Amino acid sequence: MNQAVNRTKLRVGMVGMGMIFDETYRPFLENAYQHGIYDSRIGVIDIELAAVASRTGRRAEAYRESAGDQIGSFESYTEPDSIGGLLDHDLDFICVATPDDRHYEAVIAALNAGKHVLVEKPSVLSMQQLDDIEALAREKQRLCKVVYHKLFDPDHKKLRTLVADDVLQHVNTGYCSLLEPKQISGAQFAEWIQGRNPGTYVAVHYIKLIDFTFGGCLTSVSCTGQRGLVGAPDGNTWDSVQLRLIYQYDSGREAAFDIHTSWVTPDNFPGYVEQEVQFRFDNGLWNGHSRKRGVECTVEGHTPMDMKISMNNHYNGTFVEPSGNRSQRGYGIEVLEQFAREVALVESGDDESRLARLTQMQALSYNDISADRQTVAAVHAMEAILEKHAQGKSDCVVKVNTDDGGLVLYEPGNSEGSVLYDGTV
Ligand SMILES: NC(=O)c1ccc[n+]([C@@H]2O[C@H](COP(=O)([O-])OP(=O)(O)OC[C@H]3O[C@@H](n4cnc5c(N)ncnc54)[C@H](O)[C@@H]3O)[C@@H](O)[C@H]2O)c1
Repeated sequence: MNQAVNRTKLRVGMVGMGMIFDETYRPFLENAYQHGIYDSRIGVIDIELAAVASRTGRRAEAYRESAGDQIGSFESYTEPDSIGGLLDHDLDFICVATPDDRHYEAVIAALNAGKHVLVEKPSVLSMQQLDDIEALAREKQRLCKVVYHKLFDPDHKKLRTLVADDVLQHVNTGYCSLLEPKQISGAQFAEWIQGRNPGTYVAVHYIKLIDFTFGGCLTSVSCTGQRGLVGAPDGNTWDSVQLRLIYQYDSGREAAFDIHTSWVTPDNFPGYVEQEVQFRFDNGLWNGHSRKRGVECTVEGHTPMDMKISMNNHYNGTFVEPSGNRSQRGYGIEVLEQFAREVALVESGDDESRLARLTQMQALSYNDISADRQTVAAVHAMEAILEKHAQGKSDCVVKVNTDDGGLVLYEPGNSEGSVLYDGTV
């Protein structure tokens, strides 16, 4: 039987050509360029990388050189106004993978130009920025979504399934840690690390996991951190951060979650990153370790420096498939493919039902910007508490959705709070 397959073409613009581009966007784009992505509702989605924007263009040219015929031809734009140049192209969606304090401008420009947007985590650093983006996405009738690949990790999907099925009942406490190597703070991010912290960069993965898996209302945020390796001991650049979130559930009961992060773990650590979670329930306990999933491999002269002893083959691994071809696959790439399917679904089909399809895709709370409110609130509060700490006022607490405002910061010994955000989180 010979049946024609439907084909939809999507043109992509990439803003930011750094580490995460190499890790996940590159395999996503090359695989989709060569083979397309399939969705039973629409057929084959062909993806074309049309244009890229970055600060200097050096990594874009290095990528062009190394990719060869693995990708089609694309234009490269550099600062100033690299995004302006990119947006002159006929594009369907834009991926934003610049440092997190530069997401906002790129997302606003892309939405204003009428493009769908996928932005790296954390989407933005304040509730005010989130409000602007949410409103613009609604006005322009475009998708704006955030990359949360940990929600696609099979272990986290299983956790959520057990919670959804009421097998694990009422979470009481949680502990998560994610420790990055020194090379991240010392080399990879040297250009933009000043004034930054590892909490915003990585705790956000677990903030979203907790928010998405357990639901509930965020009620308070506190945190502390350590300095002295990446920057001065009394400065505003942080080596490690410990964040605590309190949530309240419909039952009136509370849960507390501690998230510890760092980007100064020794580079000869056996894995790329150290990641573990523990959640305690009324009737059970969940312990997960993303690095110790079973494989340890030692290679003389390579491990643990240019090759790691323990590896996460579920996130993003390179393989020789049983059929002989080489592949790069995992949930870090799957999450990008899923967004491409969502854009294709909105844009294929008749005009009359487009709004219904858009609404359906915007209702997906795992990645839609409208479902990012409590996550951004936690990031906003953490940034404000660390800023106060760097000014010499440690141990502040931010209360969420009080009579005085959506985010209110309290200093120890002062009952008068200062409002960080006056809307409702
Ligand atoms: N999903 C994940 O697990 C994961 C992992 C790493 C990074 N990230 C996120 O990806 C984003 C980028 O991180 P990275 O590690 O790739 O950073 P990076 O420093 O390696 O790369 C940043 C890129 O952005 C470009 N850039 C900087 N300012 C720009 C501007 N004004 N206009 C256009 N381009 C600009 C730089 O030229 C560079 O190509 C961050 O938001 C980070 O949180 C996500």
